Amino acid sequence: MYSKKVMQYFRKPKNLGPMKDADAVGQVGNMVCGDVMKIYLKIKNKVITKATFETFGCVSAIASSSILTEMIKGKTIEEALKITKQDVIDALDGLPAIKIHCSVLATEALAKAVENYRKKI
Ligand code: FES
Repeated sequence: MYSKKVMQYFRKPKNLGPMKDADAVGQVGNMVCGDVMKIYLKIKNKVITKATFETFGCVSAIASSSILTEMIKGKTIEEALKITKQDVIDALDGLPAIKIHCSVLATEALAKAVENYRKKI
């Protein structure tokens, strides 16, 4: 059902955990499945220097948020916001059709974190 990449990011998630000195935090939840995702960002000169996540959710949600934190590291805020759910799905070598919404949660959490950051500056 899941690609090797999904299982790899689920079993050994990269960038897992809260960030005490985060410049921005974005949290979203899915009303249907009840999953909750939080993304923390460290931003310097509009570049995301560090990203971590906490996800209380399914295999796909954990893998999606973990790989997204890898994908956005070193990117400017604008570049990171251009990452689509399809980019996340492709980076994971695919997700089952019924799990597509989990990747949406990751990009939404990122958008919320950026929104949170922009309110502060
Ligand atoms: Fe809810 Fe995956 S089932 S995010």
